[in-house]
Amino acid sequence: MDRESYACRTCDSSFEVFLSFGQMPLGNGFLSPHSPSDEYRFPLEVGLCEQCGMVQLAEQPDAERMFHEEYAFFSSTSRRMAAHFGEFAGQVRQRLLDPDPFVVELGSNDGIMLRHFADAGVRHLGIEPSANVAVAAREKGVQTICRFFNQQTAEDIIREHGRADAILAANVICHIADLRSVLAGIKELLSPEGLFIYEDPYLGDILTNTSYDQIYDEHVFYFSLASVSRFVAQYGLEVVDVASQNVHGGSMRYSIAHRSAHPVSDAVTTLRQQEDRQGLTQLASFHAFRDRVEQSRTRLRTALREVRATGARIVGYGATSKSTTVLNYCGIGPDDLEFISDTTPGKQGKLTPGSRIPVRPYDDFVSDYPEYALLFAWNHRDEIMANEDAFRNAGGRWIQYVPEVTVEL
Ligand code: TYD
Repeated sequence: MDRESYACRTCDSSFEVFLSFGQMPLGNGFLSPHSPSDEYRFPLEVGLCEQCGMVQLAEQPDAERMFHEEYAFFSSTSRRMAAHFGEFAGQVRQRLLDPDPFVVELGSNDGIMLRHFADAGVRHLGIEPSANVAVAAREKGVQTICRFFNQQTAEDIIREHGRADAILAANVICHIADLRSVLAGIKELLSPEGLFIYEDPYLGDILTNTSYDQIYDEHVFYFSLASVSRFVAQYGLEVVDVASQNVHGGSMRYSIAHRSAHPVSDAVTTLRQQEDRQGLTQLASFHAFRDRVEQSRTRLRTALREVRATGARIVGYGATSKSTTVLNYCGIGPDDLEFISDTTPGKQGKLTPGSRIPVRPYDDFVSDYPEYALLFAWNHRDEIMANEDAFRNAGGRWIQYVPEVTVEL
């Protein structure tokens, strides 16, 4: 039987799927307790374009299903991320040579990063399609326009403000299926010596850690230096620096400039060699990844079954979007986990997408510690472990699945 192939979003070739999770709900599609069980699902499948090296979803639900008014993801709710963006902004400011620079951020959310430029009196503009978060940004004094970014937006910005010395984006670019229109806009908006600096979860870390839960509807691309370099070259741009970031379970920050405008750093050469060794553009690496993902599922199911057989209670920790892939792919439900504890008020009282496990406030975890906690918010592991001495002292044990399935004895 012929396998279905899909048009690559970043070159003119096509690709086939290497990993299929089956029909999945939306990663952030938390349900009200009485919602019908026939929620929206779509085939979550991921493939590698062997022509350009881009790893991407085969199909993605319509943007309106994923990002709507109720979505309301406010970046500033995490202290760790707020500190991270403060550092990010500081590093960008050091690199700005122009005495009166202009900084643009794509998907600027509630102004978590741009506020550092606003406070320092730097000319800036946030582009944020979600109206509610754009309002929050303006309240902080961050200039924000509410629209999608493309070539037309770029032309309008140039007319009003001139070209940008820095264009920034964090955890935004990997969400945008029509990446070509974004790059066309960036090519136009970026000043001759300007830098487009963005960060997203890094493919190399996903493979190293078997963190397959990074794969869900909102993440359409899983970038590597190899795929980003080839893609931006189509626009006369090149990657001039890279820096790995210990956020979101392993991210990469790419600095991109007009070709020959900046020297290329040694970090780029080093990462290129590392990616060659890891085989990040080789289909065989992704077949091996798929095998590890399947093993991880078997091990997690077995671990939960064994713990449940002892009569112990298990509670999930952090109702992350990532957990939706794990819960549904591994077939974990309310019989396995009593509830999932989460500090986000908007998720509390709801059910997890597809798996329909109750999400409850953190106080419910603390007031009656279970024997085991299954760590879904593993990207915040250090912060959580530092905070949870009382759980451990009460005899609580952790179950984890990244990078491997482990159950504390
Ligand atoms: P996030 O890091 O945004 O992951 P994703 O992008 O996969 O959704 O989400 C972390 C979730 O975990 C968020 O809902 C808040 C919750 N959380 C806790 O409940 N307790 C904690 O100590 C931390 C750090 C997070």
